[in-house]
Amino acid sequence: MTGNRNRPRIVICPDPLAASREVAQIIAAAIEAKPDIVLGLATGGTPVAAYRELVRMHREQGLDFSELTSFNLDEYIGIGPEHPQSFRYFMQQHLFDHVNVTPSQTHVPDGRGTDVEANARRYEDEIRAAGGIDLQLLGIGTNGHIAFNEPGSPASSRTRAIELTTETIQANSRFFDSIDQVPKHAITMGIGTILESKRILLMATGEGKADTIERAIHGDADPSHPASLLQRHDEVTYVLDEAAAKRIAV
Ligand code: F6R
Repeated sequence: MTGNRNRPRIVICPDPLAASREVAQIIAAAIEAKPDIVLGLATGGTPVAAYRELVRMHREQGLDFSELTSFNLDEYIGIGPEHPQSFRYFMQQHLFDHVNVTPSQTHVPDGRGTDVEANARRYEDEIRAAGGIDLQLLGIGTNGHIAFNEPGSPASSRTRAIELTTETIQANSRFFDSIDQVPKHAITMGIGTILESKRILLMATGEGKADTIERAIHGDADPSHPASLLQRHDEVTYVLDEAAAKRIAV
């Protein structure tokens, strides 16, 4: 399946710290332009320093988070919000506990209970009721996943429960004591959910992401590489460091 190919805006920074500052600047400018913005947020190693920079901007420059609403991309199934490796815990630890967000306006998909599909439908309803996502921050997996949409996820997919691939479990095991502790399932926004965001900001750093970034930007838009489906969106910005950008032609 190939779709329309839009040209993303690509910002190449000298190193991961500069890329983190660039991402934080873009998010801060968006919050300042629209204080009640609806932000889509990501977890993982990539955005940690960008969140640190946003915390600094809050403390030193008064960046105000009080009116915004946030929706995270995904959450593990099988570990609760109090688990240190849950994505809710991550967001509290790296951002929410250090800025003046309104707690009830922060949302992370709920992987608890017996009916995760009902939780997923409710999440979609909440995004819609908030007016849709204005700016969605994304990372990218080495296999091209965005959120936990693994290869094969259709462009029309919505928030749902999914089974993680061995590659993703392996990649995420660095955050757990052992690979056996990594959950095998997660709840994730779908590609269709993500593509409805008004703007998309994908951050990637390090040589390990260079091949997947090349395929996302220059490859066919195909579910076998979920990030390539972002070519169907006309407001995508990639913020990369030089290592992640080394295979792309700009
Ligand atoms: C995180 C997420 C994932 C990560 C991706 C990259 O909420 O949805 O798609 O963005 O796995 O992870 P890192 O940044 O750890 O390389």
